[in-house]
Amino acid sequence: MQVLDALEQGVVALDRERKVTYTNRWIEDLLGLEPGALIGTSGSRLFPGADARWLKGAAREPREFKLEAEGRETTLKAEAMSLRDEDGEVMGSVILAEAISETEDGEFQKKIDRLVSLGELSAYVAHEIRNPLTGIRTTVQFVGSKFKPRDPRREDLDDVIKELDRIEQIITGLLMFARPPAARPQPCDLHQVLEKTLAMLELQLIDAQVSIDREWADDLPLVYADPDLTQQVFLNLCLNALQAMPEGGALRVATVVRRYRTRRSMVDISFTDTGVGIPRDLIEKIFDPFFTTRSTGTGLGLPISVQIVREVGGVITAKNNAGGGATFRVSFPVPAEPPGRPEE
Ligand SMILES: Nc1ncnc2c1ncn2[C@@H]1O[C@H](COP(=O)(O)OP(=O)(O)O)[C@@H](O)[C@H]1O
Ligand SMILES: [Mg+2]
Repeated sequence: MQVLDALEQGVVALDRERKVTYTNRWIEDLLGLEPGALIGTSGSRLFPGADARWLKGAAREPREFKLEAEGRETTLKAEAMSLRDEDGEVMGSVILAEAISETEDGEFQKKIDRLVSLGELSAYVAHEIRNPLTGIRTTVQFVGSKFKPRDPRREDLDDVIKELDRIEQIITGLLMFARPPAARPQPCDLHQVLEKTLAMLELQLIDAQVSIDREWADDLPLVYADPDLTQQVFLNLCLNALQAMPEGGALRVATVVRRYRTRRSMVDISFTDTGVGIPRDLIEKIFDPFFTTRSTGTGLGLPISVQIVREVGGVITAKNNAGGGATFRVSFPVPAEPPGRPEE
C-alpha cells in the first residue's frame, strides 16, 4: 500500500455496497483528511453526482468531479474499474483520479490565448493615446493658469484634468496588464510585503473606517516571488476590499501554510472583508479583464494580480463568506528546497 501512497494520483477502492475500503494518501491530502478518514463512507459522497453504475466500474468512461476542500475547488478526472475475484465475481471497484491542472484544461488555455492578443491590442491603443493625452493635459493646464483661482472656468478645466488623469490611470493599468514588468522572483518574506502594503494603506483605512486584523502564521516559509509585484497584488486586493465596504467594516488578513505529504506545500494569504460580497452570477466574471461593477473601476486589478501570481506558480481564488463579505486568497507554492540555501 506504500507504493500507492507514493503515487501523484488518487486511488480509491470501493466494496460491493460502494462504500470506501481504501484511499491512498494523495486523496486524503487533497481533502485535508487524516489517514483512513474516508473508510466506510459512501463512494457517491466522495465523487458527487456519480451514479451507482459508474461507481461500480460498469460505465468505464472517465468523468470529471469538482471537489471542494479547504476552500479550494479541484477538478478531478476519474475512471472506475470493477474489481473481480478469481472466479470472476465482482468484489467492488477501484477508482483512479487525477487532478486536472488549470493549464491542462483546454478551455482555460483558449482564454489565455485570447488574453494575450487582447494584451497586445491594449498595448498598442495605450501607446497611441498616451502621447496626445499628455499634450492635451499640458495645454489645458496652461489655459487654466490664465484664469483667476476662483474663476468657474478654471474649475471646469480642473475637472477636465481630473478626467484626463483618470484616463491616464486606465492606460497605466492597461499597460501593466499588457506588458507587465519582468518579474524578479527571489526568496520573499510575505509578512514583510504585507506589512508594507498595510502601512501604505493606513490613512485610507482609517478614513474608510475599516479595521485590520492580522493573523500571521508562525514560521511562514519564504516563497519565490517578486516583492514589488506581489505588493501590487496585495494592494489591489486590499483596495477592492475597501471599496466593497463603503460604510466601513473589518478586513482580516491571514497567512497559513498548507502542508502536504505528497504535494508541494502552499502558503495562503487571505483577505476577508465584511463588505457587499460578490453577486453569485458574477463570481465567474470578476477575473476577466475590464470586468467591473464600479463606476470608476477599470476591471484590471484582478486580472493583473492573477497574471503576477501565476508567474511564480500561484493562484488567486475568490468566494463569498457565509456571514457576508468576500474572501480573496492568494496561494504561493513553497519551494521544495528552502530558498536562499547555497547549491551544493
Ligand atoms: N472584495 C470584494 N468584494 C466584492 N466584490 C469584489 C471584491 N473584489 C473585487 N470585486 C468585484 O470584482 C470586480 C473586478 O475587480 P478589479 O479587477 O479589481 O477591477 P475594479 O476594482 O477596477 O472594478 C469589481 O468591480 C467587483 O465587482
Ligand atoms: Mg480593483
